[in-house]
Amino acid sequence: MNVGLTTQILPASEAAVAAAARSLAEGGLVAFPTETVYGLGADAGNPEAIARLYQAKGRPAFNPLIAHVGDLSAAQRIGRFDTQAIALANAFWPGPLTLVLSKTADCTVADLATAGLDTIAIRVPAHPVARAILRAFGGPVVAPSANLSGHVSPTTAAHVQSDLAGRIDLIVDAGAVAVGVESTIVGCFDAPILLRPGGVPRGEIERVLGRTLVQPPEDPERDSGQPLAPGMLASHYAPRTPVRLNADRVEAGEALLAFGSHAVPGVDATTAVMNLSARGDLTEAAAHLFGYLRALDAKGARAIAVMPVPHHGLGEAINDRLRRAAMERD
Ligand code: TXA
Ligand code: MG
Repeated sequence: MNVGLTTQILPASEAAVAAAARSLAEGGLVAFPTETVYGLGADAGNPEAIARLYQAKGRPAFNPLIAHVGDLSAAQRIGRFDTQAIALANAFWPGPLTLVLSKTADCTVADLATAGLDTIAIRVPAHPVARAILRAFGGPVVAPSANLSGHVSPTTAAHVQSDLAGRIDLIVDAGAVAVGVESTIVGCFDAPILLRPGGVPRGEIERVLGRTLVQPPEDPERDSGQPLAPGMLASHYAPRTPVRLNADRVEAGEALLAFGSHAVPGVDATTAVMNLSARGDLTEAAAHLFGYLRALDAKGARAIAVMPVPHHGLGEAINDRLRRAAMERD
């Protein structure tokens, strides 16, 4: 176990970027901001570093990681782009879109990071600090969300610290992230498939492709041994407190995760209320989602009641994460 490491926390700066690149090159684990959520980075070509990363997260080793690179040409060295993939990269990179493609023959990303699959997930992040670290490091960096496996993804450096202090080498702190939900994952196969809704709404992707995205089977891990996008594992986004969806009232002892300006019955009796967006703005709601779930989880409530969130645009990703947070778990 990595417990017992001293985790350095540095505010984002040129010196912090240089320290991050140095640590990655030495096989270190570095948490850094992306525009979606904070990632926990390791050198994609270093199997020992990747093994430590899985250990630090307590993540099942079959769950493959996203390789982060600086631009499309770096991406093309590790993944095989067809015309559809190029169109998506040109439209949305840098940004909150991950493409799953066939690996190139000379792909340098360790098999451990792709969990032995012949495909690879690639993303070019937009956050200036992530971009600076990738540039300074000079190679692909694998980075899952910087939380313990099964916990809510981190949108601030403090979230990372509370999950991973003592288990990783460095946290680069650049404040709260802008998007707040993870990247959208599209499998670039003959019929492109939406593997995970996320920061780029489905409709924008379908407009660029000129076709609709195929929907993955409702429960991929039940049908086959190998999950399609194993991050879709049931209780991946789970607070410890039970979550009750589509609440139209607050029961005694419950906390409330609200949305919009409408007040529900029982709200006056609870002290733990947070509103994802009082003006009903889905972008603002996405940015608040994981932080508010963490904050309400700490209230010791019997359950977190969640008001309905509209399903259009970023609402699809928000509802996906809420549904997972609400699932029964062991
Ligand atoms: O926004 C994001 O994507 C963040 C930031 C840090 O970039 N990263 C992130 O990584 O959410 P993670 O590890 O929490 O989720 C990666 C997802 C998982 O669901 C994994 O199963 C899927 O990507 N994935 C990775 N490689 C895959 C592949 N070859 N085929 C299908 N799914 C893949
Ligand atoms: Mg994650």
